[in-house]
Amino acid sequence: MGVFKLRRASKAKRILPRHIAIIMDGNGRWAKKRGLPRTAGHSAGSKNFKDIARYSNKIGLEYLTVYAFSTENWKRPEEEVRNIMNILRDYLKDAKNFKDENIKVKFIGNIEVLDEDIKELIAEAEEASKDATGLNLNIALNYGGRDEIIHAVKSIINEGLAAEEIDEKAISDRLYTCGQPDPDFIIRPSGEYRLSNYLIWQSAYAEYWFSDILWPDFKPKHLEQAIDEYSNRNRRFGGV
Ligand code: FPP
Repeated sequence: MGVFKLRRASKAKRILPRHIAIIMDGNGRWAKKRGLPRTAGHSAGSKNFKDIARYSNKIGLEYLTVYAFSTENWKRPEEEVRNIMNILRDYLKDAKNFKDENIKVKFIGNIEVLDEDIKELIAEAEEASKDATGLNLNIALNYGGRDEIIHAVKSIINEGLAAEEIDEKAISDRLYTCGQPDPDFIIRPSGEYRLSNYLIWQSAYAEYWFSDILWPDFKPKHLEQAIDEYSNRNRRFGGV
């Protein structure tokens, strides 16, 4: 009875962020630890991404943004880049991922420069899931926070806005995440303590959670632990 009461008390305190953003880091090290090629790490990371997206949808999260490929990741060996793009192709071809699960998918980043077939698959996936009412899933692909801000500034100039018309909303409205709430909570596993050009404008007031767990080992129970910790944070947004 005592245990039951305790559980209820801690559940009552739980605050679910509206928007969680994750840096899916540590795939390469996960593979190395097992004597496997880095590509195996990305496959495991992709499987884990699907599990975490499904779980996030189940618990009623509104927005989840994951970092799949950054503007800097082109520096990786060609074979690794090709492998990540192929994992993405397989994921996109599996329409079940979106339709059956009521997940609305959106790609953020400069997708213009990607291969034609990927762009088509992205357009199909976004179209197929546009009426979903569950989780809003953003997949950051060829994404860089600085690149996104440059893109927004160019739009402002092309639209001919006057200096006095430029405020925070003018910028936010021209980011890839336009119309979405800023991330409340940013999770980075794998023992790195950096933002790596991820959502740099949107994360101005985000809370952060770091852990040594490598991404393929990051399970729903770890997400729950992180959310519990978030629930205990005192967000003041610059106030008192
Ligand atoms: C970072 O780990 C991971 C990436 C750059 C790629 C992440 C991509 C996936 C998980 C696949 C995405 C697929 C879909 C369908 C969204 P790392 O390789 O930098 O790991 P390391 O730091 O241990 O080397």
